[in-house]
Amino acid sequence: MKQLKIDILTLFPEFFESPFSVSMVKRAIDKKIIDVELHQIRDFGLGTRRQVDDSPYGGGAGLVMKPEVIVPAWEAIPKTEKTVTFLMSPRGKLFNQNTATDLAENCEHMIIVCGHYEGIDQRFIELSGAVELSVGDYVLTGGETAAISVIDAVTRLLPGVLGNEESFQNESFSLPLLEHDQYTMPREYRGLKIPKVLTGGDHAKIEAWRLRNSLAKTAKTRPDLISKLPPDFWENLK
Ligand SMILES: C[S@@+](CC[C@H](N)C(=O)[O-])C[C@H]1O[C@@H](n2cnc3c(N)ncnc32)[C@H](O)[C@@H]1O
Repeated sequence: MKQLKIDILTLFPEFFESPFSVSMVKRAIDKKIIDVELHQIRDFGLGTRRQVDDSPYGGGAGLVMKPEVIVPAWEAIPKTEKTVTFLMSPRGKLFNQNTATDLAENCEHMIIVCGHYEGIDQRFIELSGAVELSVGDYVLTGGETAAISVIDAVTRLLPGVLGNEESFQNESFSLPLLEHDQYTMPREYRGLKIPKVLTGGDHAKIEAWRLRNSLAKTAKTRPDLISKLPPDFWENLK
């Protein structure tokens, strides 16, 4: 069975305790589908105060994580030729479902570096070859919450984690389309009834309704995705 090794470099290892002790990620850890190791960057800090950051050259607000700390911390992690290093960064390539699928299928070992303060000295990126990865066009306080999102999105796609592999084949972004509306029992709640077609047992009609609903939902909230649909999608609709 494939195992994904994940090393995380962070100033706040405790950030990961709760997300990794519940639900899918816990299941993946228990089943040894992923092997997660947390590394405290401050262990490589300088001097008695274990300094990890300093003022930016050229002035400006905030502090920058020092290369003499983060480079040795990264170097201490054993690697293979298949290791990929990601630096969580709002300046990075936008992480999406395609990236998650690609990593779930092809990655064997990832090192995730979580920045803090104003970010990390550029020379770390050059020396490590780290790929900068962003989880969205907004600024978080630190890379930990971004790393948790990446790990969650990749882990649930690994064989054996979800149980029913089909459950993510129709999920949002798989086409890319947003997922259709979902309903469960009861049939009526506070006067709101579920669409009748879902109770008829006609699977072709249900699939057609779901696709229409998906298209309408996507066109309304993420029209940019409609233009990314492959040409054969429209061919198959005819
Ligand atoms: C306060 S941010 C630094 C922001 C940086 N000064 C800038 O403007 O690009 C601190 C750290 O949080 C993480 N971070 C913040 N926003 C992120 C995002 N959208 N995606 C991934 N990581 C993010 C990065 O690791 C970053 O080094």
